[in-house]
Amino acid sequence: MEKQKKIFGLLLFVALTVMILMGCEVSGNGQSDSRGEVDELTSIAQPLYNRSCIGCHGTDLNGASAPGLLNTGLSRQEFIDFTYEGVGLMPGKLVSLEDAEIITDWIIQMEENMNK
Ligand code: HEC
Repeated sequence: MEKQKKIFGLLLFVALTVMILMGCEVSGNGQSDSRGEVDELTSIAQPLYNRSCIGCHGTDLNGASAPGLLNTGLSRQEFIDFTYEGVGLMPGKLVSLEDAEIITDWIIQMEENMNK
């Protein structure tokens, strides 16, 4: 009985470690599945981010001159509005409304993968 518990604990520990390691990989280079292929949303959104946002918000979305964009606590709609219309010191109309939605959904997807 006691031994079984230990083995179960060990398996849980291993599973958690693997999940954490996978999480790190995902946040580092965008979304990719187990075969290392970039998903469709990432392949569209990442070039948009690289072109229009990276200069201020940083290469890994963790912020540079502007604040980081992961886990901001904003709703999807707020995120789209800020991205499209600008906020505070950030200028608006950097991207089209449609592109703002794509970038927002990509960032939400990344947060979900990180927080799994
Ligand atoms: C010229 C620099 C610059 C660029 C380019 C830029 N931003 Fe920003 N962004 C800022 C600054 C500065 C803030 C903080 C505004 C404030 O609070 O005064 C900000 C804030 C934001 C916020 C709100 C964050 C929060 O926690 O409230 C979002 C969302 C955002 N930016 C998304 C984007 C996206 C997506 C892009 C690319 C389309 C982008 N930004 C491009 C400078 C920039």
